[in-house]
Formats: sequence, structure tokens, C-alpha cells
Amino acid sequence: MKRPIAYIAGTGYAVPRRAVTNDDLAAQGLETNDAWIRDRTGIGQRYVSAPDETLTVLSTNAARLAMAEAGITASEIDLIVLGTATPDHLLPATAVEVQAALGAGRAMAFDLGAACSGWLYSAQVAEGMIATGMAETVLVIGAEVLSTIVDWTDRNTCVLFGDGAGATIIRHVRTLPRGESRERGILSSYGRSDGNLYDLLWRPAGGVAEPFSDAVYAARRQYVRMEGREVFKHAVRSMADAVDRALDMAKLTPADVDLMIPHQANTRIIEATAKHAGFDMSRVFVNVDRFGNTSAASIPIALADARQQGRVPEGTLVLFAAFGAGFTWGSMVVRF
Ligand code: UT7
Repeated sequence: MKRPIAYIAGTGYAVPRRAVTNDDLAAQGLETNDAWIRDRTGIGQRYVSAPDETLTVLSTNAARLAMAEAGITASEIDLIVLGTATPDHLLPATAVEVQAALGAGRAMAFDLGAACSGWLYSAQVAEGMIATGMAETVLVIGAEVLSTIVDWTDRNTCVLFGDGAGATIIRHVRTLPRGESRERGILSSYGRSDGNLYDLLWRPAGGVAEPFSDAVYAARRQYVRMEGREVFKHAVRSMADAVDRALDMAKLTPADVDLMIPHQANTRIIEATAKHAGFDMSRVFVNVDRFGNTSAASIPIALADARQQGRVPEGTLVLFAAFGAGFTWGSMVVRF
């Protein structure tokens, strides 16, 4: 097992004020119902941003909580990496707006695009930058305001997604208080992508290849589109691969893991992943019922939520596994 270089020092999350239940969606005229959504996805409600709840606002609120838990000030942050598919502006990165809002004047800041794997990839970039000596203290955020890019008339997609932000402070192990276990930190990291399948889950228009136009709006191509069944199959396969690889790299078995925190897309995908690895669901954290699929924000929100519930006490071995558009997938084993 490798000796950790970096560890997770603090976590926090923020969601919009308004929760929208499945019944609310049906009441708004969408041809759906609570039973279908719960049965197929496990989702009961999701949060939806008001105009003042931008990606910068949600990210900054989550970041402040993570910084407080880690006991650091903004001036100690060397790097901000923000995983998102829904930046406030196409230029510049939202990470720099978060930097300004926090007053993290010394930091380098950028966004990272890996869809639902956004926080995991960002955490891996943080670990790498810490390993090279470019950074000692990194603010890693996964955040989305997906409500602005889903088609609220498409029941195949709009019921699935939610808004929110999760933040983590990742630090070099040299900042650990004296006497803390040397085993604490990131024990393994694994990531993969497959761009051949990019159009199974995508937002066709709004970029350089297909700019916004009246024709785009008429065909609703500015919104997310998904081939649900195909995505489901790939998600199950990739999450299984991710779980196996991170455990192999850390020379651990599923029995060693105290808690799996998977990407919160759908309880059926989570259950299939748990079954593959031989995890009883009592060792798997699930909160998709309350938040929906918040894409890049889902794992850091779940982590902060699990910690608030007391499910990640000191010494806990956590396995993260992510899957998202691209496709992208990956995993990480972390001792807390
Ligand atoms: O982070 C990764 C992001 N993506 C995902 O996690 C999505 C992966 N895919 C899935 O989770 C599932 O494919 C869905 C939950 C999206 C859909 O479940 P499914 O069991 O694959 O259903 P389906 O798409 O095959 O649709 C079955 C039926 C269809 O009706 P017909 O053609 O059988 O009459 C749909 O039109 O269910 C209908 N349907 C709905 N009914 C009520 C689709 N969406 C809804 C809805 N409410 N919201």
C-alpha cells in the first residue's frame, strides 16, 4: 500500500432553498408520478436554484463550511479546482469567481469538465499538484446548477437531476497534526474515459460546434439529452470496474472498506455496484432520495452529509466511485 501524500481535511455542502418533490413535478403538469420516479431511480426530491443561487454562491457557501471544518483561512489556499458542467459564465472559469468571493488571493483557480466524475477527477488533480509541490492546500469543489440546462418538458431527464455544491479541503499530509496516523489520506486513485460514447449523454448546442440559434431553440438542443438505458448499462459496468481497480491498487478487498460513497445517480445503479463488489447496503451511503443526481456535486455532498450523520468517524476507510457523461469514471480509496 502506498503512503498517502494528501488527505481530506474538511467537507461541506450547500443546496438551494427550494426543494421540489416528485409530486410537485406531477402537479406542474409533467406526465409522471412519485411511484414511477421512486421505483426507477430512488429519487424523492431535488433542490432547484433561484436566480440569486448561482454556481458561485452555492460553491462559496459549501467552501466556507469545508474551510471551517479544516480550520484554514482563505489565504492558505494554493489552488481551487471546481468540477462542473454548468459554469456561471462560459468565460472565465467559475473557480476564479469563487476565489474572489472567498478572498483566496494566493490561489491558482480553474474549472474542470468531467460531468458526474467532476469532483473525483478534481480531487485527483489536487493530489497530483500536491505531490509535485505546486500546492499544499487545495479547495476541491463539485457543483452544478443543472436546473438551467435540463429540459423541464422532458420527463426522461428532468426528474433525475438536482442543484447543489459540495466542497472539500485536500491537504499535504505534512499539515496533519503531530501524532495523527500516517495511514490517513488518499490510498489509491483510478480514472478512465471513453469519448466514443460522448453523445449518449450530452448537451448538443451552446458550444462552438453548434452555437445557439433559433433552430437550436426550436429543436430544444440547448438542453441535456440522454439515452437512459444505454447510459444505465455503461454506468453499472464502469462503476464495477472502478471499484475493483481502486481496491486492487490499494491492495485491499471489499471486506476492508467501511463505507462506499458512490455517485448518486440512481439507487438501482448503486445497488448493482454494491452487489458486484459484495457490499451489504448497510455499508453503502445513499442520499439520492433527498438530492437527486447533482452530477459533479453528488459525491462531495454525500461525503459531507455522511460526516454530519456520524458515518465517517476517524479511521473510516471510504471507497468513492464515480461515473458520468463522456463517459468518464473513476474511484478513490481514502482513510479518514
Ligand atoms: O450520472 C449518470 C446520469 N445518468 C443516469 O444515471 C441515468 C441512467 N439511466 C437510468 O437511470 C434509467 O434508464 C432511467 C431512470 C432514466 C429510466 O428508467 P428505465 O427503466 O430505463 O426506463 P425507460 O427509459 O426504458 O422507460 C420506460 C417507460 C417508457 O414508457 P413506455 O415507452 O414503456 O411506454 C418511458 O416513456 O417509462 C416512461 N418514462 C416515465 N414515466 C413516468 C420515462 N420517464 C418517465 C417519468 N415518469 N419520469
